[in-house]
Amino acid sequence: MEEYILLTGASSGIGYEMATQLAAKKLNLILVARSETKLQEMQSTLIAKHGILVRYIVKDLSNVQAAINLYKDVQQEKLLVTGLVNNAGVGNYGNFIETSLEEELKMIELNISSVVALTKLFAKDMVSRKSGKIMNVGSVLSFLPFPYYSVYSATKTFVLAFSETLAAELEGTGVTVTSLYPGTTDTGFTTDKMQTTNLYKSGKPMHPKVVATEGVKHLLHGKGKKVVGFQNWFNSFLPRIVPSTVMMKIKKHLASINRD
Ligand SMILES: NC(=O)c1ccc[n+]([C@@H]2O[C@H](COP(=O)([O-])OP(=O)(O)OC[C@H]3O[C@@H](n4cnc5c(N)ncnc54)[C@H](OP(=O)(O)O)[C@@H]3O)[C@@H](O)[C@H]2O)c1
Repeated sequence: MEEYILLTGASSGIGYEMATQLAAKKLNLILVARSETKLQEMQSTLIAKHGILVRYIVKDLSNVQAAINLYKDVQQEKLLVTGLVNNAGVGNYGNFIETSLEEELKMIELNISSVVALTKLFAKDMVSRKSGKIMNVGSVLSFLPFPYYSVYSATKTFVLAFSETLAAELEGTGVTVTSLYPGTTDTGFTTDKMQTTNLYKSGKPMHPKVVATEGVKHLLHGKGKKVVGFQNWFNSFLPRIVPSTVMMKIKKHLASINRD
């Protein structure tokens, strides 16, 4: 039976680059996102270029039932998933009392509920086969929750807690649970509003290819958590040495709109 890596959020950004790099390693893929045309194009390109098996499944994972149905589709098609990358995610930026509740509830469902559902369903099968790799994509904000990104930060903090604890639970089962924490990356994730912040203007976003290279390495050979890039690693470490009230003031300034 052919083995597949299932990658959510494969149609653009970090997920697209991870899919491209996994394909170059001759690994078969199941690509998941909402944009069917993009997935179709990726499927034909990757098959033609690397001679691998590529399936795609269109799902809107901001509804957790879609994640459950995704697992059912994979079962029905009798596809053997030996790797799962929970990469799909969205964020938003703004004053909590002004941002859209509907958007935030969908974000929670995509960034948290669907990650839990897919991980539980696929991890059970992997544990019974004594082999498998799961990687969840968090953010530097998993370690450094930022004002004006309150709900997004909280969803990514969930990813950190969930990944670390599950990795410990599954130790010795043959199934690895790793997690990847990118900092600002040049993808469609960053909205125009986010680009007006001191934070965005103070640094240079990473290229998604660089983040994906770290991600692929970490999924295939890594252990535990990986913060991408030295600066991001250093920033993620700061809360351990700087008092939280001072940290929060700095973060509030950084996340504020730069009016210069
Ligand atoms: N870019 C950054 O600065 C940054 C920093 C830290 C962490 N991250 C994390 O990295 C991950 C990937 O983000 P990215 O930067 O590569 O952003 P991106 O380019 O916007 O890609 C997001 C991917 O998720 C998919 N997606 C979005 N909503 C979905 C939904 N409801 N159902 C299914 N798929 C959905 C998108 O595809 P469709 O639109 O086709 O559905 C796309 O493939 C996210 O978890 C994000 O939180 C990003």
